[in-house]
Amino acid sequence: MTEIQPIIRLENIDVTFEQKKQSVKAVKNVSLDILPGDIYGIVGYSGAGKSTLVRTINLLQKPTHGNVVINGTYLAKTTDNKENYIASKELRQQRKKIGMIFQHFNLMNERTVAENVLFPISHLKLSKSQRKDKVNELLELVGLANRANAYPSQLSGGQKQRVAIARALASEPEILISDEATSALDPKTTNSILQLLKKLNIELGLTIVLITHEMQAVKEIANKIAVMEDGEIIERGSLLEIFTAPQKQLTRDFIDTATNLEDGLRKVKSQTAIKNLQAPDIFVQLSYAGASTDQPLITSLFKDFNVTANVLFGNVEILQETPVGTLLAILSGKDTDLTAAINSIKKQNVKVEILKGELA
Ligand SMILES: Nc1ncnc2c1ncn2[C@@H]1O[C@H](COP(=O)(O)OP(=O)(O)O)[C@@H](O)[C@H]1O
Ligand SMILES: [Mg+2]
Repeated sequence: MTEIQPIIRLENIDVTFEQKKQSVKAVKNVSLDILPGDIYGIVGYSGAGKSTLVRTINLLQKPTHGNVVINGTYLAKTTDNKENYIASKELRQQRKKIGMIFQHFNLMNERTVAENVLFPISHLKLSKSQRKDKVNELLELVGLANRANAYPSQLSGGQKQRVAIARALASEPEILISDEATSALDPKTTNSILQLLKKLNIELGLTIVLITHEMQAVKEIANKIAVMEDGEIIERGSLLEIFTAPQKQLTRDFIDTATNLEDGLRKVKSQTAIKNLQAPDIFVQLSYAGASTDQPLITSLFKDFNVTANVLFGNVEILQETPVGTLLAILSGKDTDLTAAINSIKKQNVKVEILKGELA
């Protein structure tokens, strides 16, 4: 089996900003492979180094150290203490393959939608009808047909971002970098833009790097996630791996913001059934991904172990076509039965956390 070549390969990237009194290490030894067709989410709080890192992909930011390889071509190679950068003419060619969209759209307000969209390809000598066709094609793609002659001030935030996406696609890139592109939008508009990105990923085979501080955005469309903190990638994996088995506390914090478990827990914990929990009853959180589903699980608890489950909260989501579920429940039964039931549940690849009470 031949290995798939990454479309973006970052090797041991450092970016250090030298300032008068101090130097800021914005990116520290980050290596990252992104495969063609990935929607790769990079999540982290403000200041984590996300923007600086992704700006090295098209050398808008030169790495202090490390290699940037796009489709097998080295844009930067700083190994052996020798700085090597691609020639500027070739860099311009490479940059055409990498589109970018931003939080504040960066449109030219005194120009029409059509002029904004065509700006990146203004060097091409297109006839009037070719220009018109190109604009129509791009606006059609982003769901904004018939607005070619509008000015940005006449558009909503979501429409402005669609124009920015059309502009980013004008030079037919293979990669789209989205740096907080939905952060200024309301949740409904955010979702429509994310669905547009997903459509472009599927229909054009566009590889997308999705930078955000909102795990919710990543959860909607990404297939892979890296979590950044203080210039480093502290955790990475498939969407499913990250959501079902996060290793780092920061990752868990981000996940909690993207599920309603946090809210569910708070409400459930204040219920009298939990406050007055009597031994040997236990209050548990059951988490599962994939084939196991809640109903057979609960039925078997009773049938096989004589343990009853009082479900206080349940949440099932579909991540990458896989059901991922969480149940908060009080399990009641004889202490030996409870222990046997918990052991059996664990064997079915269900994660069991006892939130209150204990097994005998
Ligand atoms: N041009 C710059 N000069 C000096 N420091 C910078 C510059 N750009 C970013 N930084 C610093 O680098 C760190 C990472 O910033 P940034 O990459 O913008 O993070 P994020 O996008 O995750 O919010 C921050 O401490 C920021 O202040
Ligand atoms: Mg940023």
